[in-house]
Amino acid sequence: MSETKSKGLHRRKFLGGMAGAAGLAAVGAAGATFALLTDGNTFKAAAADNTLNIPDLLEGTTADGTTTFTLTAQTGTSEVVSGVTSTTAGYNGSYLGPTMKWTNGSTVLLNITNDLGADTSVHFHGAHIPAKMDGGPQNAFADGETWSPTFEIKDEAKTLWYHPHALGTTAEQVVHGLAGLIIVEDDSDASAALPSEYGVDDIPLILQCLAADSAGDIKYNLTGYLSSGLSYPVLCNGTNVDATTLGFTATKTRTRFRVLNASPSDILTVQRSDGGTLTQIATDQGYLTEAAEVTSIRLVAGARAEFVLDLSAAVTLQTVVTTGWVRGGSGTYDFLTVTPDASDTPADLPSTLNTITRYDTTNFAARTVTLGQQGAAMNINGSSGTTMDSMATIMTTLDAEEVWTISNTTQLEHSFHLHDVPFQLIAINGVAPTGTDLGWFDTYEVVGGGSIKIAMKFTDFTDDTYMYMLHCHLLQHEDEGMMAALMVMDS
Ligand code: C2O
Ligand code: CU
Repeated sequence: MSETKSKGLHRRKFLGGMAGAAGLAAVGAAGATFALLTDGNTFKAAAADNTLNIPDLLEGTTADGTTTFTLTAQTGTSEVVSGVTSTTAGYNGSYLGPTMKWTNGSTVLLNITNDLGADTSVHFHGAHIPAKMDGGPQNAFADGETWSPTFEIKDEAKTLWYHPHALGTTAEQVVHGLAGLIIVEDDSDASAALPSEYGVDDIPLILQCLAADSAGDIKYNLTGYLSSGLSYPVLCNGTNVDATTLGFTATKTRTRFRVLNASPSDILTVQRSDGGTLTQIATDQGYLTEAAEVTSIRLVAGARAEFVLDLSAAVTLQTVVTTGWVRGGSGTYDFLTVTPDASDTPADLPSTLNTITRYDTTNFAARTVTLGQQGAAMNINGSSGTTMDSMATIMTTLDAEEVWTISNTTQLEHSFHLHDVPFQLIAINGVAPTGTDLGWFDTYEVVGGGSIKIAMKFTDFTDDTYMYMLHCHLLQHEDEGMMAALMVMDS
């Protein structure tokens, strides 16, 4: 492997021991030998035989009812463009981060050390936790420091993710690899009935479309995206799939997939190459009322979905990339072939996965949140959120029930994300939602000139100092000011 030789030149200050077998070990795919890890901080995610890389499951230590997880944000190198070494970053490794499992009702403590050489924060995207623990810009911490948030897991079963959220550097840090999944488990009947063995029949799929030049320099801002000679590599769990279809051998007939679009801006649609259906079971914020047969799942930047496949023959999953920003990827990529090697017959899926009581918004307080722009500067309600002082602040109170119209006055695509609590869609461009849009969300597409109406209730947490964020999850737009603050105050 040629990366080995250049290692000395790319050596970063962090050559952490955790980046080896513990950081990126193979899980699942029995006996697969990974070709990654030439030494501590080079990530090469694909096995020699192109087996799907499964991010390591981070083991926590449980004592006195609290599970402690240890993460280090660090730099390294990885092969984002095939055959080229890029400077990257990851948690406990060189690219992406390990998956955490949190259990509803338990308490977690995270010790997160910053070894990036720059300020960072770690936001738990989609988690219902106190604002002070949320990892927004007010929680940024400096190189060399450790941030230790602790909170009870109030979320029910769902797929969350974690990533940096410091002012102005979110896009840069996420595109270089700082992103990982969080699986929240609960004791619901649906969870008991669904596949849950990580890396065996419960498979994470972190999809990304990035922008890089031929030297492997990963771009994140307007200047970078407008430079010449770019390609838009598509990655699955950190492996470039531009010309490669990864493989996964399913040892159970039914396999569950958790898909995250961790791209900075592009929209990724997941579908089968044979035109067959995916059995979608969850949106961003947990289970649908019942499983839905869908032919595709469209994920804007930051969004997640879960589906299961009961396979008797191999199926290839593909992603259709739609440019979300000034430039970006396009085309259809076969990223994973799932080949069954199983003889079990799974029980029928439960007819009901979840009870979702639709909000009656008759008495909800109404607000308008306007996504706007002035030249290249992005704003919310006319305020550019590039600093805490300049951003618009929405003030509400504990247990307030609100219905927001998110109005996109630009002709650009946006991905609206709200911290703290999940929302229900009340209308999408004036039309009532149907199908999987009746689930719970924290991130949803707002097309150029379009609008969404969403309803939510601000339960459990108040703070008069720390704020939640609401913003566009096109990370460049976020960094360019399309972000506002939300303060939930005592009544
Ligand atoms: Cu995934 Cu405020 O972010
Ligand atoms: Cu946007």
